[in-house]
Amino acid sequence: MKEKTIKHILTLEGNGQEVLVEGWIRTRRDSKEVSFIAVNDGSTMNSIQVVLDRTFPGYDDINPRLVNGASVSIKGKLVPSPGKEQSAEVSPFEINILGDAPAEEYPLQKKRHSFEFLREIAHLRPRTNTFGSVMRVRNAMSFAIHKYFNDNGFVYVHTPVITGSDCEGAGEMFHVTNFDLNNIPKTEGKIDFTKDFFGKEASLTVSGQLEAEIYALALKNVYTFGPTFRAEKSNTSRHLAEFWMIEPEMAFCDINGNMDTAEKFIKYILRYVLENCSDDMNFFNSMIEKGIIENLEHIAESKFERITYTDAINELKKSGKTFEYPVEWGIDMQSEHEKFLTQEIYKKPVIVTDYPKDIKAFYMKLNDDGKTVRAMDVLVPRLGEIIGGSERESDYNKLLGRIREMGLNEKDYWWYLELRKYGSAPHSGFGLGFERLIQFVTGMQNIRDVIPFPRCVDTLEF
Ligand code: 4AD
Ligand code: MG
Repeated sequence: MKEKTIKHILTLEGNGQEVLVEGWIRTRRDSKEVSFIAVNDGSTMNSIQVVLDRTFPGYDDINPRLVNGASVSIKGKLVPSPGKEQSAEVSPFEINILGDAPAEEYPLQKKRHSFEFLREIAHLRPRTNTFGSVMRVRNAMSFAIHKYFNDNGFVYVHTPVITGSDCEGAGEMFHVTNFDLNNIPKTEGKIDFTKDFFGKEASLTVSGQLEAEIYALALKNVYTFGPTFRAEKSNTSRHLAEFWMIEPEMAFCDINGNMDTAEKFIKYILRYVLENCSDDMNFFNSMIEKGIIENLEHIAESKFERITYTDAINELKKSGKTFEYPVEWGIDMQSEHEKFLTQEIYKKPVIVTDYPKDIKAFYMKLNDDGKTVRAMDVLVPRLGEIIGGSERESDYNKLLGRIREMGLNEKDYWWYLELRKYGSAPHSGFGLGFERLIQFVTGMQNIRDVIPFPRCVDTLEF
């Protein structure tokens, strides 16, 4: 298969060998004697040039149909190119137009379209340079993630998409039901979930963490990498209702080991992309975010800053900057605060630890001060938070206390509590938002443009 891609053909020297080029036309330029046709098949950013002579049999019929968007299958000879842009080009002897694309209707014109417009034609946007590059980089990053964990002895666990527990306790879950919505069974005015498919209330998962903990407390180092769902009505450039999360979970590991893994892992992914996606990264570097390559190279080599939440709040106060949300110990940091810390104060990624317990989830390990928990968020320039994680509470009674304190139903967490009753061990983990990491790597501004099919408030096509 690889032999048939344009990516592969472009690596060959043109010595008259026969090649088969299959793809979509990007451009056609006619000169007096010949037409130059750029064909792209998405295997690479680069197109291959086909040079069609006006003496080609049937030229007058074929040439007008060789327009932007049409799909073709072309047999020809690969010959040295006199042009500067490419070393070889195709001299065709057979051209088949497999699918026409009427120029007056085809929505993707040669000009640069806005990303907003392209979101409306998400079925065609993968054919643009930007989205082709995003998807190839996304693919390379997925592979690198599995490779990193596999090389480091982590077991990939498939945690469930349908769940009976709310991991973050934030109540931002989508319901899963097969009730007839026009006739929902009720008992004393309340929905009777015992009559629902699972005999209880069910939702789409917001995180695979709780289930990953089960496997970490048996297999030591595990990770999950799958889709997660949040019914947050945050209409921002960093929130999706369906996004992918990478969640490692490690037994016999404290918060320091957790931070070390997060830092090493992010740097590994950055280096992997820089080494393996140079064409696409050069495109992002010149067309999307100037200087991003140098930026990522710098981050891959620098030590992340590590500070406590309390110090972070003090730094923000000391800065004298006026924020939209005033800074006070106890606040849940907003993205303006996160960005200021990492972009303006430290100018590199920052890991913030020991947040107030009241703004974090119930499962985080309580510090001796009784006020803060062993949380760790990784913040990066341009985006703010990309990782949220913690050491987990491994003490049965303290965990039960937190569950009660936060008004959660302890019956729902009976198995989670039992993990602390039988062979409990210190353990830690974190969740990395995959799309935010792709934004960080590519410089793409809007999270809807780094996932093939974005789902967010009021947006659901396909
Ligand atoms: O900080 P969060 O909510 O942490 C958890 O879910 C933990 N259970 C993870 C763990 O410890 N295993 O989410 C983790 C990350 C965030 O830092 C962010 O990058 C991403 O997931 N994220 C989102 N990405 C896109 N759209 C959303 N609505 C997101 N919500 C969180
Ligand atoms: Mg978080």
